[in-house]
Amino acid sequence: MDIAKIKIERQKWLEWKNIAPLRQMLESLPTIECEVELGDVVRIVADVDDEQREKIAQIAWAMRPWRKGPFEVLGTYIDSEWRSFVKYNLLKPHLDLEGKDVADIGCNNGYYMFRMLEQNPKSLIGFDPSPLFRTQFDFIDHFVKSQIHYELLGVEHLPYYGKKFDVIFCLGVLYHRSDPIATLKWLRQGLKDGGELFLDTFYIEGDEPVALCPGKTYSKISNVHFVPTIPALQNWSSKAGFGSMEILAKKPTTSFEQRKTEWILGESLKDFLDPDDPSKTIEGYEAPKRVYVRLRR
Ligand SMILES: C[S@@+](CC[C@H](N)C(=O)[O-])C[C@H]1O[C@@H](n2cnc3c(N)ncnc32)[C@H](O)[C@@H]1O
Repeated sequence: MDIAKIKIERQKWLEWKNIAPLRQMLESLPTIECEVELGDVVRIVADVDDEQREKIAQIAWAMRPWRKGPFEVLGTYIDSEWRSFVKYNLLKPHLDLEGKDVADIGCNNGYYMFRMLEQNPKSLIGFDPSPLFRTQFDFIDHFVKSQIHYELLGVEHLPYYGKKFDVIFCLGVLYHRSDPIATLKWLRQGLKDGGELFLDTFYIEGDEPVALCPGKTYSKISNVHFVPTIPALQNWSSKAGFGSMEILAKKPTTSFEQRKTEWILGESLKDFLDPDDPSKTIEGYEAPKRVYVRLRR
């Protein structure tokens, strides 16, 4: 696989007709010295005049939907659909990123990577093939001015990337893959010997090593292929070459963590659940819950 060629081709995705105007807006952003606060809200603070503040607010608004966050950019509070600090804070006690080569695969707009900056990793690389999320990242990073590197690549490119990592995050991606064992193999190949993978996925209850294969949608999401029991996830991981799987947490998705805000277009969790029995999805499956695990190469 020729990664250099793929990267050049994907760079052109930033010229798509829905993305190009947003890229032009990025170029018009003022250069400002900012302070960055890396808390639950990734906050960017600086003295700006009303005209600049309004322009920045309009650019952020044009980049909807914001799935991950929240961010506050020079007075504009981007109240994303997900309060991503819930997931990050759950993982944080298990993280030791200082001086490490770190990748976030399926990084969306980079919220977790901005949070990780506080641990001073040696390098931080995000993979996500979405030109919109890449553009949101570039908007935030225009002010943060981090050394984070964002690749418009997918998990399938990891084995050919030419760099291996001490720590890889792959959060909220596995159930979107039609090939979960291959995906886990690629993630393992991306790790240095002794490296760690932090992963979360939807799961279903059960002691049998089986997986739900939803019909057209799961929780109104159209590209969910397999939702495993925890024993099935353990078996997938073993087949991919990982040793024992450490369970860090199990947690249902709540309406505190995921909800409709004005910064997304369309529906959110409440609309995905059965109104008469919110322990079920609208399709009658178990309502979304996630298991968070650590796997070592
Ligand atoms: C459900 S979101 C999860 C985002 C974030 N990791 C989190 O846990 O909050 C799935 C992400 O995977 C990205 N994605 C899509 N195809 C991918 C691929 N082939 N490899 C890696 N990520 C992919 C999407 O663009 C999206 O940002």
